[in-house]
Amino acid sequence: MGKLVIMDHPLIQHKITLIRDEKTVTKDFRDLVQELAMLMAFEVTRDLPLKDVQVQTPVSLAKAKVLSGKTVGIIPILRAGLGMVDGILSLVPDAKVGHIGLYRDPDTLQPVEYYCKLPTDAQDRDMIIVDPMLATGGSAIGAIELLKGHGIKNIKLVCLIAAPEGVDAVQKAHPDVDLFIAALDEKLNDHGYIVPGLGDAGDRLFGTK
Ligand code: PRP
Ligand code: URA
Repeated sequence: MGKLVIMDHPLIQHKITLIRDEKTVTKDFRDLVQELAMLMAFEVTRDLPLKDVQVQTPVSLAKAKVLSGKTVGIIPILRAGLGMVDGILSLVPDAKVGHIGLYRDPDTLQPVEYYCKLPTDAQDRDMIIVDPMLATGGSAIGAIELLKGHGIKNIKLVCLIAAPEGVDAVQKAHPDVDLFIAALDEKLNDHGYIVPGLGDAGDRLFGTK
């Protein structure tokens, strides 16, 4: 079974409370989602490979380490995942960014794919899928299947708020994928929205409602 990491650092909990608040306006919501993604990226990238190097300090030669290999790819699930990309890029500026376009059919709640563009060297990278919301899990499972279909093996999923139903579904379908979340909420409502959640993440990020 993949890891489930609930990142409950005080700064993360504080910012999650602010994005839940219906009074938080679009600009602040967008800034907070980026900040949360950056804080989470710190832990998500903990096992990146390093190699030994030497560096000349003003005092002496130092044995040191730098990231080794091609490191990371970031895959936002459109639209709302876009809001998390810059936060991760601020810590891992060399990461490449692919995009997967999925929307939830409002009646069936099934994900519908409309776009996919991945880095050409995606198989050599650790892929981090980002999406603020993990509700039924359908979109995340669809995105993971797409990446696996392209031969990608090292996949992590990073979401801000998750429903227990979505966590179970992802862990059952893809037990090899580690899942990082900032909050595990109570349940889904009849429309597939997370309770208490934060409403529609895409609409709140882009001001479309
Ligand atoms: C939201 C969210 C996830 C998905 C989660 O996207 O950003 O991608 O729903 O739901 P699930 O776990 O039940 O699949 P939405 O389909 O509303 O598209 P949008 O980001 O374009 O608004
Ligand atoms: N997508 C959202 O944006 N919010 C939810 O609560 C569920 C799916």
